[in-house]
Amino acid sequence: MKKKYYINSKVNHNILNELGFFVLKNAFKKEEMDKYRSKFLLSLAKKKINKTTNHLVEVKIDQLSFFKNIYKDHQLKNIVKNFYNGNVGSDFYRIVKKDKINKSPVFCHQDSGYQFGSFDRYSIFISLTNNNALNGGMVVYPSTHKFGYLGDAGTISDKITKNFKKICPDLEIGDVLITHSSLWHESGKNFNMKDRIYLEIHIQDANEPSTKFIIIGKNKKKIKIPFDKSKIFSNSRTQRIVRFKNKIKQLEKKLTN
Ligand SMILES: [Fe+2]
Repeated sequence: MKKKYYINSKVNHNILNELGFFVLKNAFKKEEMDKYRSKFLLSLAKKKINKTTNHLVEVKIDQLSFFKNIYKDHQLKNIVKNFYNGNVGSDFYRIVKKDKINKSPVFCHQDSGYQFGSFDRYSIFISLTNNNALNGGMVVYPSTHKFGYLGDAGTISDKITKNFKKICPDLEIGDVLITHSSLWHESGKNFNMKDRIYLEIHIQDANEPSTKFIIIGKNKKKIKIPFDKSKIFSNSRTQRIVRFKNKIKQLEKKLTN
């Protein structure tokens, strides 16, 4: 079979720019990723961390200091060294997980609408399990990042996506999927109910004000956000939806009383 040109052991930036995604085989040592997975699963079992409520797959792991070691990992530095003229930062890391209980598909979306800062950003999805079409592995729509930010956040219509090619890369432990934050992506149901775990490291120019961790290079501008990001809006679409939902709940209560 012809070798897929978006898979290699080193990032090809021309192909990444063209497709909005790239797959790295054996980017991290399997034994090291086994350790990250064990630490994560143990913390989850001990209820030190929990799946985010109202999110299909996210588990926040900020309080697990062990995971911060990933930012010092030479294998990660090696992957990101040619982004942003060698000044690469990160604003968050998290786990996205499916298993035998949480096996639902994730709707087609782009991440840009949920993020803060510039649109020139990427996610590095490190496979902590074997992730593929059978356990709900990530599916990407090549080159759709070129449409840019779509002006809202939510489900991209299947009347549109059916006209586009989609790919579900077959990943093994230690393999990496890099995606541009504007790339359309989704994931299917976890059919075989085996764990599907990615460690997501979100990267950006180290000079962006929201940078929390430096992976390589420097933040020369040293501009920090002088306000609480989560409190920036006094009124927003999300806040209005929450208000409407609460109002509906109150009205329902009144009707049943
Ligand atoms: Fe996403």
